[in-house]
Amino acid sequence: MLVLGIDTSCDDTSAAVVENGKRIISNITSNQTEIHSKYGGIVPELASRRHIEMIVPVFNEALQAAGVSLGQLSSISVCNGPGLIGSLLVGCSFAKALCYAKQIPMVAVNHLEGHIFSAFLQEPVPAFPFIALIVSGGHTCLYRVNGFRKYKELGRTRDDAAGEAYDKVSKLLGLGYPGGPVIDKLAHYGNPEAINFPRAYVPESLDFSFSGVKTAVLNYLKSEPGTQSSEGRSKKPSALHPPFSTPVNDIAASFQASVVDVLVRKTEWAIKKSRVKRVTLSGGVAANSELRKRILEMGVEKEAEIFIPPVSLCTDNAAMIAAAGYHHFKAGNIASLDLNPKAYMPL
Ligand code: KG4
Ligand code: ZN
Repeated sequence: MLVLGIDTSCDDTSAAVVENGKRIISNITSNQTEIHSKYGGIVPELASRRHIEMIVPVFNEALQAAGVSLGQLSSISVCNGPGLIGSLLVGCSFAKALCYAKQIPMVAVNHLEGHIFSAFLQEPVPAFPFIALIVSGGHTCLYRVNGFRKYKELGRTRDDAAGEAYDKVSKLLGLGYPGGPVIDKLAHYGNPEAINFPRAYVPESLDFSFSGVKTAVLNYLKSEPGTQSSEGRSKKPSALHPPFSTPVNDIAASFQASVVDVLVRKTEWAIKKSRVKRVTLSGGVAANSELRKRILEMGVEKEAEIFIPPVSLCTDNAAMIAAAGYHHFKAGNIASLDLNPKAYMPL
């Protein structure tokens, strides 16, 4: 059964063809990093305009690379939230028009559900139940996944998502957007113990909080002798200018250690609390080399099975939307053609 997936929830335009919810036949993504990097973050209006330009070529390329025609598709699976509303609208409108014109069943997929199902795109696949840690630019949450459509939230961030913290710290350091990959790289050459940034272990809870560590980095940089800030209109520093007295590599490694420590520790608590010894890690921050390494080490220590998709399936992609969509289609969850995207959409 062939499913075409579409994701335009944020700043990546993606289309993919997946067989039986497992085998990727094509997975084409056009990213917009070049457009947004100079602004230090995603500009929603520019993101939706670019999706409009890219959706048709990306869709064509996905079908072509798969060698599949529209008539061979069992369904079209589209992400309708959560995400940037203007971005989601492009993918949803495109999917609706295509499904209406070609009489193909349409399936709606929650973006977070997609991230969970990215773990099913490689062998071995996790057995139910499992703990899913989703860490991205917009989300940081832990779920107990008991089966398809059986998701129990165990914890979530109370303020910034982990990826958002990476992006904001990167902006402070003048390293551009997205912050995750560049901080990950610099951290390799730095000392994670150089600065003791705080770890927010929200007590008695599997919730997260990352805004404190971002402020701690800002305060640390401001206290550095010789640091100059370029102030935005709000008088908040938008970037602090090197040279800092502390090597940037050490700041990056120390910040990363703080984020990764909390993510790993809370996942460990989730295993203990739910007595489920299987964990999937997904979302853009799951591309982080230190997080991948530390979660694997924790798995060995706790005798838990760890499932981490390849980096290309951790960041936003349409294959994960097609994988989740396959299960909806099999369950008969067909979306109506008046489907609307939603910026906020709990799983
Ligand atoms: O899942 P994703 O592609 O989009 C959202 O749904 O948000 O995640 C994007 C986030 C960005 O914040 C980016 O900085 C972060 O993932 N990211 C990383 C790495 N690669 C991407 N964070 C840490 N280390 C990385 N290597
Ligand atoms: Zn995502």
